[in-house]
Amino acid sequence: MMNDLVSPEVLEQVKGWVPYVEAKLGFRNHWYPLCLASEIVEQKPIARKLLGENILLNRIDGTVFCIKDRCLHRGVRFSADLQCHTKNTVTCWYHGWTYRWDTGKLVDILTNPQSVQIGRHNIRAYPVQEAKGIIFVYMGDREPTPLEQDVPPGFLDEDRVIFGKHRMVNSNWRIGAENGFDGGHVYIHRNSVLVEGNDIALPLGFAPGKGKENFRAEIGDEGPTGVWDLLGEHSVPVFAASIEGEEDIMRGHMGSKRVAHTISIWLPGVLRVDPWPDTNTTQYEWYVPVSETEHIYFQTLGKVCETEAETKEWEVAFHEKWVPMALEGFNNDDLKARLETQPFYEDDRGWLNEILYEPDRCIIEWRRVASKHNRGIQSREHL
Ligand code: FES
Ligand SMILES: [Fe+2]
Repeated sequence: MMNDLVSPEVLEQVKGWVPYVEAKLGFRNHWYPLCLASEIVEQKPIARKLLGENILLNRIDGTVFCIKDRCLHRGVRFSADLQCHTKNTVTCWYHGWTYRWDTGKLVDILTNPQSVQIGRHNIRAYPVQEAKGIIFVYMGDREPTPLEQDVPPGFLDEDRVIFGKHRMVNSNWRIGAENGFDGGHVYIHRNSVLVEGNDIALPLGFAPGKGKENFRAEIGDEGPTGVWDLLGEHSVPVFAASIEGEEDIMRGHMGSKRVAHTISIWLPGVLRVDPWPDTNTTQYEWYVPVSETEHIYFQTLGKVCETEAETKEWEVAFHEKWVPMALEGFNNDDLKARLETQPFYEDDRGWLNEILYEPDRCIIEWRRVASKHNRGIQSREHL
């Protein structure tokens, strides 16, 4: 069945990665991070949108639950006037249909306690997992896969301490993912505060070799599935630019710190840059589909800490140094690129009209792998 989010004539012309183009609202049956664990407090439900679906989250006796924010009776959102008359239930403001947070079961109807509908129906309840201080939601219908299969390698390692932040960006999630995994876009960062501030080596770009050695797909059995960018090993970094024979128009930054040797992207849409932004830290960042034109940019940094004191020091450095210098200072360049790319792809003709060049081979491999190994496409019928 064709996904009605994208026009059939575009899908007919796309070659090689049709499911990826269809996945305008992301992939079904995957774990996505939604917010920090600290944002969901005991019995204070919050409404959010994920993969185009309205959802509600609540913490009850410490455990976080997630249900679809839509009454089965006439389809209104509970969140339009949220009513929780008992700890374990939510009641629809319109006719009093009342559901349990944990199972989604319709357990009572306040306007007709005798109704035959009671006990017969469930709203969708999505599995939730808290890991590394982050709330992950499994947006799926099947038995959830282990979280390890949907996060980059090493992210869940016990001694790795993660801190993060998130914000909404007005572009489709794929524009975010491809901006992150794009080997040629390092150019836009050349004047970043991080380059001088942390004295990193940052070329203007990469001239890759010809073949497939520039990337490697990893199809997870127990672990995640994704693509490793091997441009660092198989390309010549460009440190000086020339135009029509005029040399040294500009130069990259030959700093003392070598960072970002390994860049990889994983299903359902999370980038790993290692080491980054410092020589002993790693950046993991998600591009979480919210609507066709919005994604949550969920940035995290991880560092191996062995003692309490180290953890404390890392927390201070994260907030005081790395958020302003890297997650904002450096990555705000990326936000500009995403906002500017969005209109070209918004009606999906960009997938047909783009002209790619050699460093984009990694992106093409990501599209192929994501097309082939996702666990389902979010479509209108799920909304
Ligand atoms: S629409 Fe929710 S109870 Fe009627
Ligand atoms: Fe970037």
